[in-house]
This record gives sequence, structure tokens and C-alpha cells, in this order.
Amino acid sequence: MLIKRLITGMTLLLSLGSPVSQAVEKIIIANGGTADSLQGQTARRFSEQLQARLGDQYQVEYYSDAKLGDEKDLLDKLRNGQIQLATISSIMSAEVPEFALFDMPFLVRDRQHLKLIDSEIIMTDLAAAARRHGLHIISTWENGFRQISNNSRPIRSPEDLKGLRIRTPQSEWRSLMFASWGAKPTQMPFSHLFVALQTGEVDGEENPLSNINGARLQNVQKFLSISNHVYSPIWLTASDSSWQQLPAAVQAAITEVAADAQRWSFAEGARQDTRLLKSLGNAGVQINHVDRITFIAASKAVYAQFARQVKGGDALIERVMDLA
Ligand code: PAF
Repeated sequence: MLIKRLITGMTLLLSLGSPVSQAVEKIIIANGGTADSLQGQTARRFSEQLQARLGDQYQVEYYSDAKLGDEKDLLDKLRNGQIQLATISSIMSAEVPEFALFDMPFLVRDRQHLKLIDSEIIMTDLAAAARRHGLHIISTWENGFRQISNNSRPIRSPEDLKGLRIRTPQSEWRSLMFASWGAKPTQMPFSHLFVALQTGEVDGEENPLSNINGARLQNVQKFLSISNHVYSPIWLTASDSSWQQLPAAVQAAITEVAADAQRWSFAEGARQDTRLLKSLGNAGVQINHVDRITFIAASKAVYAQFARQVKGGDALIERVMDLA
């Protein structure tokens, strides 16, 4: 193990030049979720391991909780070189239409169906689409299956969402989904959400359990409805142009450490599911399951829009469905 680390360190030094001859380079990674959520835990673990791997010539800095801005700001900061890495979730579909695949309601069936994450649909099709928009997808981490919380009533069918103001990420797709189900979607950065729920600006929201718990939304929400309406990944992203400027050894280090973080985040996500549901229930949130059939029946407009708007969209959906 030690020998392997020494050799890796030597390889890096040879490719980067002498440590005394170069200034320390910063690698800044930021996210819009909380430090306590699974994506926060994964990003911290990744940053620490990357620092150990790169040694003193690089300084890896991790900023959680939208300290450097929400996901939209982070994409801007990637593009203008202020940060090197960001973890981006639902708003990716606002940048790269093909990523709205992950906004197709009930398309990803269950954890077993998450073999999708390791399929060529992600690392070939979606990665190529991202590159056309100047972004480099390094790896895919778990954000989680999204659930609906609110302060008015348990959500069993779309009927129960009628008139509820539901916060969504800043993407037209999630808005379209909740509008199709009868809710009044309100796009808002995640960092504004706790206060918006506390003051009644919105009635509810939708997120994986880990983000709900990470932001302590259980303190301002009465009902949690288990819907698993979409599976929401976290994309570890760089701007393609700054990625190309990194030395090959650094690219390799980031890619390998990120792949290890990916394996860890999916295993940890599966472990956390049951524990988080229990602890949210213990915190006094009333929990129920939605009726998937009525929701699926009310979701046709979202699929139709995807087929119209995204070239090859129908074929992508079929390939996901066909994954056994
Ligand atoms: O709801 C969101 O905006 C996202 O799920 C979050 C919490 C920022 C994770 O990336």
C-alpha cells in the first residue's frame, strides 16, 4: 500500500516538475447541498483522499452549503475558472437537455435499476452531450430517490398536490412535472428553501431523504410522502477547457479518487435509506407512500415534452427501460 502511494507520488512529481520550482495549485470543489447530506459526505471524503493522493503541490479545498453559491452560480464559476470542480444535480438538465432523462417520472424503478449509472448511457451518451456544452463529467455520485414533503397533507395521488406551492430546483423539467400533477411549482435555489418553508412562502418541496435531513427540513415540514418520483444523481463536473489544461497525472488522480467516491456513495446511500426514514419519523414527520399508478398516469406530458425537445429522447428512454 505504502509502496503504491510512493510510486503514485513519484509519478506525479515527475509529470508536474520539481515541487520547489512551482507554486502550490488550488483545486476548489464546491456544492450547493449541505455538508451533512450524502453528497456533502462524499465530497468531503473525495477531497481528503484527493489531497492525500496529490501531495503538497496541490491544495484541495472543499466548500459545502452553497458557500460559493448555489448550483447555477457554481456552473458559472466552473466556466470562468474560479473553481475547478462542482457537484451538480437537477439543474444539469437546464444546461444540457439530454440530462432531463433523470427528470422522467418513475423511469428509474429501484436500486437494482441503478445499474444505469455504470452503463454507457451515462459515460458515453450523456458525457458526450455535456462536452458539447463545455462540461466534463468526471463521475456520478448518489444524491438519491426524490420524495415529497409538505405542511398541508399526506400526498397519495396527484389530486392531493392541487394548489400546493412546491419548491423545485431551477429547471423547467421538475416544474413541468409538478405542474402536470396539479401543484404550483416554484423554482428556488436550495439554500433559500429552509426559510421559504418556515415563513410559508412555499408549502413543500421534493428531495432525497439525505438532503431533507441534511438541511433539517423535518423541523419545518409535517408530511413526507415516499414517491421515488425521480432518481437524482450528483454529477462531479469540471469545465471541459480547464479539465484539458490539467496535467494527465492530475486528471488520472481525480478520476480514480472520484470513481472510488462513486462506489462509496452508492453503498452508503443504500445503507442510509432505512435509517433516515426512521429518524425523520422519530422527529415527528408523518410518513406515507404515494400511489405510483395515479402519478404515472398523470406524467404523460413530461415524456411527450422530452420526446419533442431532446433529439433521440425516445430512444434514450427505451434504452433505460430495457436495462433489466
Ligand atoms: O434540491 C436541490 O436543489 C438538490 O437536490 C440539491 C440539494 C442542491 C443537491 O444537489
